[in-house]
Amino acid sequence: MSKVIKGGTLVTHDRSWTADILIEGETIAAIGENLKGDEVIDADGAYVIPGGIDPHVHLQMPFMGTHSADDFESGTLAAAAGGTTTVVDFCIPAPDGSLLEAWEAWDAKSKDKAVVDYCWHQCITGWNETIFDEMAEVVKRGVNTFKHFMAYKGALMVEDDEMFASFRRCAALGAMPLVHAENGDVVAALQQQLMADGNTGPEAHAYSRPPEVEGEAANRAIMIADAAGCPLYIVHVSCEQAHEAIRRARQKGMRVFGEPLVQHLVLDESEYQDKSWDHAARRVMSPPFRNKQHQDGLWAGLQAGSLQVVATDHCAFTTEQKRMGLGDFTKIPNGTGGLEDRLSVLWTYGVETGRLTKEEFVAVTSANSAKILNMYPRKGALLVGADADICVWDPKAGKTITAANQKSAIDYNVFEGVKVSATARHTLSRGEVVHSVGANAEPARGRGKFIRRDPFPPVAEALQTWKALTAPRKVHRDAANMPAGV
Ligand code: URP
Ligand code: ZN
Ligand code: ZN
Repeated sequence: MSKVIKGGTLVTHDRSWTADILIEGETIAAIGENLKGDEVIDADGAYVIPGGIDPHVHLQMPFMGTHSADDFESGTLAAAAGGTTTVVDFCIPAPDGSLLEAWEAWDAKSKDKAVVDYCWHQCITGWNETIFDEMAEVVKRGVNTFKHFMAYKGALMVEDDEMFASFRRCAALGAMPLVHAENGDVVAALQQQLMADGNTGPEAHAYSRPPEVEGEAANRAIMIADAAGCPLYIVHVSCEQAHEAIRRARQKGMRVFGEPLVQHLVLDESEYQDKSWDHAARRVMSPPFRNKQHQDGLWAGLQAGSLQVVATDHCAFTTEQKRMGLGDFTKIPNGTGGLEDRLSVLWTYGVETGRLTKEEFVAVTSANSAKILNMYPRKGALLVGADADICVWDPKAGKTITAANQKSAIDYNVFEGVKVSATARHTLSRGEVVHSVGANAEPARGRGKFIRRDPFPPVAEALQTWKALTAPRKVHRDAANMPAGV
């Protein structure tokens, strides 16, 4: 049965025009005027945009002694409700652990639950010959990005030599490294000092992670990538110091990409000064929210193109989980939600304010991620032959965000009370309506597909021999510090 989306204005990253879209099965079959289909989807007065891609989420992530509360079911339902049709998670092995074992775990928790499409970045949590070998298999299976945590010392953090070896391997495989850029040693020292001085509350989380620790790590990762001869993607860029490093690298001709989060664009550090412990702890994430100057810099980066995508790093914990850190801020599980609200909040604070054009909005919410992660034009495009991942975006249907109406499993929303001016009227994932305002779409759990992302051309065959030069080494990672189940 075919479908036709009628009456809307199509908006892509490069243009806007009036047309209908005909969908046959899972793909876009035609774009033009007066198209006919078996079923009509009303886009009157609305924009029709590629379904959102959130390049950074953590669903059922084992972390800090617990698991993030949204799994692939509630997380992807939240995505669909907000107009997002592809989520990119992070597959995290045990310290120094097997990538393929982690792959099996991520496959098991996603495949029967996801209602929109998904894939993941592979995390590197150590360095040894098995990891070296398994990276090739991971690429063969359709993951072309490898994530490195420069923070979370004693748990997920990797050392510089491990990162360099892994970056070289990425270059050889045609893969791209990602980094969480914060200097984990400095954070650990500041945490210790703050706790010793009696600063145990959530506000100390922000004091322990000043912009300098992020800027230093971003600069270091960029230099290591340059030495390794590979591109680099820096996740959750929150401050001017990191942004400046990215700008400078790009000016030099390096392929360095920067990803701010919608939370960092809109929420600021004053959240941590709230009188309510719960309020502040619910907003504990790394890097923490910053001040207005940093926010202005991030917006400018999106406008100028020095920052390319807007993600959420959706890693939602309930209030009860956050209370694991009562009396010790270092034990508050790090992470916030946002997957359901990303498009609405970005439209309201970005497009409605005149900071972004609607085409730029599409670029940073879908097309750029699709290109950078090698899913374009299957995803992120309105083109014949592309997956019919489409959002009918209603710029007049505002709402007030509240946890009471959200799909996410947690009991609060960091955007509670925020009035947004636009929402998703319909969300289609590969041609199927997975969300419709006023109708209770119940997409089948497990209908979401794993999306393969093929490698880019490898940098040099000669680098395949790097294995011989990379002796495995012992880094102290205490299993006790690791999240349960990792
Ligand atoms: O605080 C955060 N960002 N939690 C999720 C894990 C990560 O660092 O991305
Ligand atoms: Zn991170
Ligand atoms: Zn993350």
